[in-house]
Amino acid sequence: MIQIRIPATSANLGAGFDALGLALNYYNYVTMEESDRIDITSNDDQPIPTDESNLIYTSAKDLFAVCGHELKGLKLVQTNNIPMARGLGSSSACIIAGLVGANTMLGGPLNLDELVNMAAQIEGHPDNTAPALLGGIVTAVFDGNKVEWVKQEVFTRLKFVAIIPNYELKTEKARAALPEKIAHKDAVFNLSRAALFSASLLTGKYENLRTAVDDRLHQPYRMELMPHAKEVFDIAYTLGAYGVYVSGAGPTVMAIVDEENRFFTGKMEFSLEAAGIQGWRVQELSIDNIGAKVE
Ligand code: HSE
Repeated sequence: MIQIRIPATSANLGAGFDALGLALNYYNYVTMEESDRIDITSNDDQPIPTDESNLIYTSAKDLFAVCGHELKGLKLVQTNNIPMARGLGSSSACIIAGLVGANTMLGGPLNLDELVNMAAQIEGHPDNTAPALLGGIVTAVFDGNKVEWVKQEVFTRLKFVAIIPNYELKTEKARAALPEKIAHKDAVFNLSRAALFSASLLTGKYENLRTAVDDRLHQPYRMELMPHAKEVFDIAYTLGAYGVYVSGAGPTVMAIVDEENRFFTGKMEFSLEAAGIQGWRVQELSIDNIGAKVE
């Protein structure tokens, strides 16, 4: 039996739509062994598909097929800490669990690049799957078949504070809200900021992050679908966050905060309550530099 630990991920990081993502120290666990039937259970209350539509199972089956093997069945036990449909990479965690588990069961036929490619092909974009596999902050370009990527480990004095609403926003719906075309000046707006984000994060020029997370490709459209998000952004900046952005496709709002801003989380919880914003959960996280790990 294999146990895999897979980190949550936060994609886009503001302006880096479908290109930037990082891994966080918030984990799902999956135990996996080959079986002659499908036997899928969860260790918690999260409802999960327990049949052949389960994303961990389908990803594992895909990898077996690519390597010329047939996967007849699988015994899976999922521990789902990462909340679903909240912009924290829960589906990417399933894909990576399936691929890494299957690859381990077969003795490691696919290398890291091949796993990165396959995960992006399953998900359709690489910015959650690549950091879920690799850890750190990942810059990725995906042409539909192949991902060119760079992983950088990050050692910062930053906390990533996830402010997670009690409502879901499915990625398909959040992508359907985006415009087909954007103006040239908006493309320039975003590409300059996406580049500024990585450079500023990695060199410690955190005062740039507020500008760097600004975006004209997705956040303004998605925030229309996220009740109270604008107020949450304003509160986070008032409490001294360096940058605040929609995590992945939303609806989680991520605040990047200096670790010396010691009471940010408590103040955020208090402020949400004072503003009458109910049902949001505040979770203090940091960057995971390890990525998926077979235990
Ligand atoms: N880059 C993706 C998006 C991440 O924003 O739609 C969500 O999976």
